[in-house]
Amino acid sequence: MLNVLVCVSGGGTNLQALIDAVKDGRIRNARITAVISNNRSAHALERAKQNDIDAVCLSPKDFGERAAFNRALLEMVDSYAPDLIVLAGFLVNIPPEMIRAYPNRIINIHPSLIPSFCGTGYYGLKVHEAALARGVKVTGATVHFVDEGTDTGPILLQKSVEVHADDTPESLQRRVMEEAEWILLPKAVDLIAAGKVEVVDGKAVIRQE
Ligand code: GAR
Repeated sequence: MLNVLVCVSGGGTNLQALIDAVKDGRIRNARITAVISNNRSAHALERAKQNDIDAVCLSPKDFGERAAFNRALLEMVDSYAPDLIVLAGFLVNIPPEMIRAYPNRIINIHPSLIPSFCGTGYYGLKVHEAALARGVKVTGATVHFVDEGTDTGPILLQKSVEVHADDTPESLQRRVMEEAEWILLPKAVDLIAAGKVEVVDGKAVIRQE
């Protein structure tokens, strides 16, 4: 059974997609052991509590120095001994020590087709604003392993989504969530729990059998 720790900052709809998929069997051999938020008012914390999942808040604002927050975050993560860490809308830079402690065991969902509209400054609604400003006709979402760069790790899954002429950032964000994110993230966790994913030469490989 894969122990999954989910890190969140906001509404937690991707967390909800994971909770629902564990319940209805789309994710097998995994359980969500805890949810960590950097934001005390994140609705994701409520979603965790409603489902009897440990929910903790750890905010950089409560620590004088970033290094102290980073240490506390790693200690908190270690205390749950996770097999997999899922960043589900976690808007905190993951400390390098944590990435080194969990190589190829941290995945992130990003609301674009990487390498478009990703990297520093591209998060949440900003990603969709940039896609609309560029006039792309297709966007989507990506699940990737986390390395020490920003959105640079091995790509595990991607799914495209059509952009409509009358889209607003909000309507596009919603469609990307519904048609891509809430499908891809549970699928990624199920594949990893089934032992079907490995990283070879910096690329994620999915074994089909
Ligand atoms: C999601 O769209 C996720 O892809 C995005 O934040 C949103 C969180 O929504 N993540 C990033 O932009 C990371 N760079 P949620 O809290 O409802 O799951």
